[in-house]
Amino acid sequence: MTDAIRVERERGLLTLSLNRPDKKNALTRAMYSHLAETLKQADSDPDISAVLITGSSECFTAGNDIADFIQQPPSNLDSPVFHFMLNLLECRKPLIAAVAGAAVGIGTTMLLHCDLVYVARDARLRMPFVNLGLCPEFGSSLILPRLLGHAKAAELLLLGEGFNGEQAAAWGIASEALGSGEEALARAREMALRFDSLPREAVRISKQLMKAPDREVLRKVIEEEGALFTQRLRSPEAMAALSGFINRH
Ligand code: COA
Repeated sequence: MTDAIRVERERGLLTLSLNRPDKKNALTRAMYSHLAETLKQADSDPDISAVLITGSSECFTAGNDIADFIQQPPSNLDSPVFHFMLNLLECRKPLIAAVAGAAVGIGTTMLLHCDLVYVARDARLRMPFVNLGLCPEFGSSLILPRLLGHAKAAELLLLGEGFNGEQAAAWGIASEALGSGEEALARAREMALRFDSLPREAVRISKQLMKAPDREVLRKVIEEEGALFTQRLRSPEAMAALSGFINRH
């Protein structure tokens, strides 16, 4: 467990805050493990009605820690990042995200698995996988073309184009865009707490119905993407791009 993930409980709502401000909340192996374990516990805890994932009012997350990618790249599906992905995919409780500032890489793709997503209008979302010599992950190669059509998804995944919170809401990636990071977090908390007074079993069954048709195919796609992603991490293209970021000053 790491203090770079803050875990707070308010009635039935469990809030997980990414808390590594000096590195823009970049996610390390330890942070993925902590998130994966906490999600699993929350899933089987009858007292928890919903889980809210957030960063700070300035930054959601800069994505995977790039130094970790170089020093300890995930080598197979038994790595912390894949435990996190699968536990998020399998979570039966409502998942809510509040996003402000940068949401890069997995900071954007994890939103595709949340049930409700509240973003600041000027949040900066981006999936620069190709730019880093990598490939899409976390089911994004399946979900985004379905959601946006191939041509718009290709701008985001093949060119690594960034977009803002307002666009995320217009495209259905987010539920609503709000005026500031504080407002996005307040709305996310307000909506997440509503699950506390809804019938839990009805919520669980309804989410299951919404997710069931895609669950198996998504798991398969996540595994296929993951196998290629871990290979790409060791490619000369990725090595050059990742060390370029680390040595950019
Ligand atoms: N991994 C490791 N460290 C990261 C990081 C990441 N993904 N993103 C940012 N950091 C670190 C920077 O190296 C810097 O550390 P330093 O102060 O020790 O030099 C610190 O966080 C602040 O980052 P900085 O780039 O100065 O902040 P910014 O506000 O100008 O820009 C981002 C923020 C998120 C837009 C920018 O940091 C960025 O593009 N990060 C890389 C995102 C990325 O490609 N993620 C991987 C996706 S697969």
